[in-house]
Amino acid sequence: MQPRSARITGWGMYAPMGVLSNADLERLVDTSDEWIVTRTGIRERRVAAPHETTATLAAIAAKRAIAVAGLDPDEIEMILVATLSPDYPMPSTAALVKEAIGNTRAAAMDVAAACSGFVYGYATGHAMVSSGMYRHVLVIGAELLTRFLDFGDRNTCILFGDGAGAVVISASDDPGGGMLGMELTTDPDGAYMIWLPSGGSKSPPSVETIARREHYIRMEGKETYRYATRTLASSALAAIQRAGLTADEIALFIPHQANLRIIESVAKGLGLSMDRFYVNVDRYGNTSAASVPIALAEAVDSGRVKVGDRIVFVAFGAGFTSGASVVEWTADPALGRRADSVVPAASVRAPVDWDSVDPMPARLAAVLNSRNGPAVPLDDVVPGEPEHAHREVPA
Ligand code: UT7
Repeated sequence: MQPRSARITGWGMYAPMGVLSNADLERLVDTSDEWIVTRTGIRERRVAAPHETTATLAAIAAKRAIAVAGLDPDEIEMILVATLSPDYPMPSTAALVKEAIGNTRAAAMDVAAACSGFVYGYATGHAMVSSGMYRHVLVIGAELLTRFLDFGDRNTCILFGDGAGAVVISASDDPGGGMLGMELTTDPDGAYMIWLPSGGSKSPPSVETIARREHYIRMEGKETYRYATRTLASSALAAIQRAGLTADEIALFIPHQANLRIIESVAKGLGLSMDRFYVNVDRYGNTSAASVPIALAEAVDSGRVKVGDRIVFVAFGAGFTSGASVVEWTADPALGRRADSVVPAASVRAPVDWDSVDPMPARLAAVLNSRNGPAVPLDDVVPGEPEHAHREVPA
């Protein structure tokens, strides 16, 4: 195996059409648009339709990233899916995505590092390509979190949403570019700060665990907030130092989109203004492992990233995990336009003699179904964000 340089050649995202606004949540729990916007910056999040699963969201984002890279799906040799909301505990969601994108040759596996999953997956995929093991690795972050939320718990149900983002990492004979430095950490002291109690070997699902509502995400918000503000800054700085750079030399940070206040506090801690941080938490909420690759695809497609820019992916999540990568961007951002030709649909085969029960949480379905027509997504409304630039049509 010959070491090569490993660069991002494709990127793509998919957010389901369903929109859940703060006004909708006011009808579910004792909350208000004002409280949610002030404490989190979130105005709305996306909700997958009943026929969608984590694998179908992932497959659409993946097909877009592969189209941008200009590859045939069969040229992908490894598929990594970072998720905490897999279709099933087994098989892996990555195996289902492989079939859904029409790939016949790749190895496929899931990455379990919660909201840091994409950053962990990117580090893994980068190592596989730069070592010479594979030429093209697909890394996806995909989540369908609305199926794991207690829509009676205002501490959690206002925060999370559904979506997927993906990148293709390809070997290059040109020197430089790609990952310049990284940092990955895991702190089990925080293991039960964000937690889904039931479904594993410690607490298999049963009538009793369901009655105890242990099949839903639980979170200690304040502790997680404190950890997040500390660790996002320290992980980013460690990765930047390993790259031999200073924070000031980073053109754009693509942080995990958990809470606008957390991102603002990291910017302040690093002594940088908010225009160096890509923010879309207002429109998608926290999509866990999908948040960094969704933000990356939007940032590149809207002209916020240029060839030669040094950018930073940085995330934290359950575990507690955290991770950061410094990346030198090498791909022509205009190639993102190739993703527009991909039809936003994917199907994942189910066994012929089995079908799931309706997967939508009943309380959520009731609110969505009682509206007068579908909600229309908001425009980007985060204050201080530069206007999105128009993309050029690729040659
Ligand atoms: O990917 C990682 C995932 N997790 C996170 O990133 C979460 C990090 N934590 C946070 O973002 C924040 O801690 C939250 C947004 C979850 C909460 O914000 P906070 O400013 O830390 O609020 P708090 O938990 O201190 O609650 C303040 C008050 C409490 O009422 P009292 O005790 O002061 O009367 C809560 O009961 O706000 C109440 N509250 C709410 N009120 C209206 C909690 N949730 C809500 C709500 N609507 N949805």
